[in-house]
Amino acid sequence: MTSLVPRHQINTHTSRGQNTVYMADAAAVLGRDRPLRILSFGCSSGEECLDLADIFPNAVIKGVDLDDKALERAAAISHDRISIEKSTYEAISSGGPYDLILAMSVLCRYPLPKGVVNIKDVYKFGVFIDTINLLHDSLKPGGLMCIYNSMYFFDDCPVSLDYVPLVSRNVNLGWMPKYYSDGDAATTVEHYWEGQVYAFQDWVRTASADFVSKTEAIGHVWINPRSRGSRRVDTPFWLKRR
Ligand SMILES: C[S@@+](CC[C@H](N)C(=O)[O-])C[C@H]1O[C@@H](n2cnc3c(N)ncnc32)[C@H](O)[C@@H]1O
Repeated sequence: MTSLVPRHQINTHTSRGQNTVYMADAAAVLGRDRPLRILSFGCSSGEECLDLADIFPNAVIKGVDLDDKALERAAAISHDRISIEKSTYEAISSGGPYDLILAMSVLCRYPLPKGVVNIKDVYKFGVFIDTINLLHDSLKPGGLMCIYNSMYFFDDCPVSLDYVPLVSRNVNLGWMPKYYSDGDAATTVEHYWEGQVYAFQDWVRTASADFVSKTEAIGHVWINPRSRGSRRVDTPFWLKRR
């Protein structure tokens, strides 16, 4: 595999079971047995909350989502430490402040309409900032923000000055390309499978519906390596200092 890894690649790691890998990393930092408050922002039909309940046996978990169909499925979950609600400011703040917030594959847009080059046409940086600010307000000082598969960089948000990055052993920033705050593309994404490298679009076509779970590794490649600036590309984890 090593010979296939292109120059300027910023990370690779298997994406199989990626969410639980990050949860286990968070448990190593925060302590898995503590009575933590955890927010799964964009929990979909609730599987993420169930995984969190397994990994953190004494935590209280709040899941929120916007999608009514997903919430209908989530309503079947009956667990004494999990509550799942429609995503509103009140729902989020009623379960907080949180020790751990996860926004995994939420701060992105997929599929992108054909022909979109600048992401701001479908997802404005201001919307990303508003969401990050909402989550920031709900996180305790000393708490951990876990942002996976976002299209924008957390470090481009003003509140990131209140955080320090925690380098993870599991560096995979997800399978969505990254964009600068002006909406221009920062990275492209390559998928690795059975000794071959696929560009993102080819991979989606080749591997069809389950392309995310089938991929062996993902690499982000800087379109212009010199424009990287100080952005952290080696962690989904941000520790709130104050
Ligand atoms: C791709 S799913 C990811 C689900 C889960 N976090 C995971 O990683 O498997 C994205 C979910 O985020 C939800 N979502 C998008 N924007 C949201 C928002 N502002 N508040 C809450 N949920 C949101 C969508 O409805 C969808 O269910």
